[in-house]
Amino acid sequence: MATQAETNIRPAVPVAPDRIVDYDVFGDKRFYEEGDLHKGLFRLGEEDGRGIFWTPHNGGHWLINDHELLFQAARNTEIFSSNNRESQDGAMVMIPPMADHGEPRFAPQSLDPPEHGTYRLPLVKAFAPKRILEMEGWVRELAVKLIDELAPKGRGEFLAAVGEPMPVTVFMRMMGMPLDRLAEFRSWMHAIASDSQERRSGAFANIAQAMGELIEARKADPQDDLISDLLASDLDGRKPSMVDMQSYCLLLFTAGLDTLVNTFTFGMYHLARHPELQERLQADRCLIPELMEEILRRYGVAMPPRVVTRDYEFGGVNLTKGELIMLMLPAGNLDGKAFADPMTFDIDREDKTHITFNSGPHRCVGSHLARLELRVFFEEWFARMPVVRPDPDQLPTYRPGLNLTIAELPLLWEPVAG
Ligand code: HEM
Repeated sequence: MATQAETNIRPAVPVAPDRIVDYDVFGDKRFYEEGDLHKGLFRLGEEDGRGIFWTPHNGGHWLINDHELLFQAARNTEIFSSNNRESQDGAMVMIPPMADHGEPRFAPQSLDPPEHGTYRLPLVKAFAPKRILEMEGWVRELAVKLIDELAPKGRGEFLAAVGEPMPVTVFMRMMGMPLDRLAEFRSWMHAIASDSQERRSGAFANIAQAMGELIEARKADPQDDLISDLLASDLDGRKPSMVDMQSYCLLLFTAGLDTLVNTFTFGMYHLARHPELQERLQADRCLIPELMEEILRRYGVAMPPRVVTRDYEFGGVNLTKGELIMLMLPAGNLDGKAFADPMTFDIDREDKTHITFNSGPHRCVGSHLARLELRVFFEEWFARMPVVRPDPDQLPTYRPGLNLTIAELPLLWEPVAG
């Protein structure tokens, strides 16, 4: 429910009442009524329509939940900027707006073209498909180890056992971080996902410090890792500074961990509720790429914010310079104009061209890595695990926000003999 103060927040240019929705990204009533984040998103589209809408919640912002309009906005970086210049050049746009000190710099995600491209190029090289495929052997060893530790237990919380350790370990190893800091890394990841500005800022400071030490070490003695590669990269004729390097690290931490953890978890929760689908995949592991794409489509997770750079008419409304706008990518994947019967999870659907990784200049740099981890993990999971089901006594906990999250997923299965 919007508070009195919130209901008074209006866009600068009046809009028709049917363009105003009661939608709180951090606790929408539809989430709670449906008991499911994606069903809540879908219901918003069914009840209020698909297009561009204004919500008075969280400081007041626009939101887009229409597949075609999302594509248009994502590609139009001249109007829909990722850079919060009002706070500090290079800082990330946030919903709700961050007070005073703003968000740190997350180059290239918090930059617009052309500066964006300068910072993106070294990441595109580092995360290129060929380089990512070279990692397959050790990523598989990790998946096997985590699954084999879990299989004999007969019950377990998926995130703690696999959903987090897998992407976080891959990330730490790529960066060249010592793996004995895994628990610390996971605690920072939780803090970043929280809606407490204090916790987020604390985690950013901790990451910047830990990464700062590593960057200094690699400057003195380069190794075969991502930090050393990025240190050697070229930013339009100069080497990255310490600020640039810390910004890269913070970005990779925020963009590359929670998103993948959540994708693993939503996918696993779906599978746990559909034993027949698990049996089909156990019998035919060639279907895993289709499974992954349908998980990515049906369970999109990230809703990146933008700020409007100048007064502009878009999707039938008048936007005003400085207004915030949320790209509801997961809702775009549930738009019936783009996908027939969009709520049905169907690995056999022909067209799964989702926008979960976004589109345009900011399209996810880590998508090849994400797909490698998902593929390898599911290949080993279906080879090693029996059918799993949700623990009926401990239902999973959802966490709404700009990144849709399942915070805990307790599962049961027949223990596998060790
Ligand atoms: C399933 C997992 C993932 C999902 C759903 C996802 C989603 C996204 C989305 C929606 C964006 C666009 C953000 C925007 O428009 O502001 C993005 C950007 C980005 N992602 Fe991912 N991501 C995933 C995994 C990863 C991984 C594993 C990494 C690397 C470790 C990564 C690194 C990045 C980077 C660096 C950007 C910024 C690109 C730019 O602004 O040019 N992502 N991701």
